[in-house]
Amino acid sequence: MRLLVLGGSVFLGRAVVAAALARGDEVTTLNRGLTGSVPAGARALIGDRMADDGLVALAGGEWDVVVDTCQQSPTQVGRSVAALHGRVGRYVYVSSVSVYASFAEGPIHEDTVVLTSADDGADEADPALYGELKMRCEDLVRAGFGNASLVVRPGLVVGPWDPSGRFTYWVDRGARGGRMIAPGLPGRRVEFIDVRDLAAWIVRTDGEGTVNAVGPAGVVTMGELLATCSEVGAGGAALEWISDAFLLDQGVVPYAEMPLWIPDEPEYRYFSEVSAERAIASGLSFRPVRETVADTLAWSRAHPAVDRRNGLSPEREADLLARWDAREG
Ligand SMILES: NC(=O)c1ccc[n+]([C@@H]2O[C@H](COP(=O)([O-])OP(=O)(O)OC[C@H]3O[C@@H](n4cnc5c(N)ncnc54)[C@H](OP(=O)(O)O)[C@@H]3O)[C@@H](O)[C@H]2O)c1
Repeated sequence: MRLLVLGGSVFLGRAVVAAALARGDEVTTLNRGLTGSVPAGARALIGDRMADDGLVALAGGEWDVVVDTCQQSPTQVGRSVAALHGRVGRYVYVSSVSVYASFAEGPIHEDTVVLTSADDGADEADPALYGELKMRCEDLVRAGFGNASLVVRPGLVVGPWDPSGRFTYWVDRGARGGRMIAPGLPGRRVEFIDVRDLAAWIVRTDGEGTVNAVGPAGVVTMGELLATCSEVGAGGAALEWISDAFLLDQGVVPYAEMPLWIPDEPEYRYFSEVSAERAIASGLSFRPVRETVADTLAWSRAHPAVDRRNGLSPEREADLLARWDAREG
């Protein structure tokens, strides 16, 4: 198969390239050459999708499938949809579960109500418009490619090379050991998908339409995940479960400071109950959570300098634990 990846040098795009190369596909990538690196074996083209002439490197090319990892720019997606029309067989766009309008009721299926698409003049750099801009990108892909399009809506994507450091925080924290803050309730469900499982399925599937892509297999709770991080890291971490109310009162930011922590608030009740039934029926499969944790830890240890934006600093965690103890005493 001849595959074009728009992006391809960072996390998911990189994993898509690696999965396709491993199958023997002929892979071309297009990015600015500024971030990350494209796996060896792909033909790496350079272009800035925001520039009027940003797609000239693709001129004359034809591909069976394009995978577009564009984050939230309808300008970029609109241009590539127009430029590639008639030159690629299928257009796969990586969207997000953030397009759903509400998580107050669930489970979330592909026909659950979505946000309104961003307007023409919307600020494409505004993180607060992520869901609306993603919706607009989805609409452009569907309008351009119809039944020859697949819109993939992942939940949290995790694993080696994750630049966000969200899941990696828990993996690293479990390995560091000592008293470790565990947020909320141990029985709460968590959802995340290993980047390699997602990439392998994206490359393999010939599906069309709109498909959620979340994992892992079965129901996994926060308690099970943190216990696995502690066991795999062999740091002997002692979990200290701290209530939503206390953490919120201390100004701890859900998901950013405590990745995967969704406090018990009605509007997010089903955030971790997105259905992947459709994707599973079309071949999405999951590796064991323990393997994702072990591989992420190995990668993290080999890349200590990678930006760790998310999670609590050791100082902040120690301070919160001291306050928690004082409160109980
Ligand atoms: N991570 C998650 O948990 C999660 C969850 C749901 C959905 N998603 C979606 O999954 C996708 C993630 O993609 P990713 O992991 O590959 O990371 P990414 O950070 O979206 O990758 C961006 C890629 O696009 C290239 N790029 C950026 N601006 C460009 C421009 N103006 N022109 C040409 N190329 C440009 C970058 O390379 P250069 O900088 O070198 O150009 C890089 O290769 C995104 O669409 C995201 O919204 C992620």
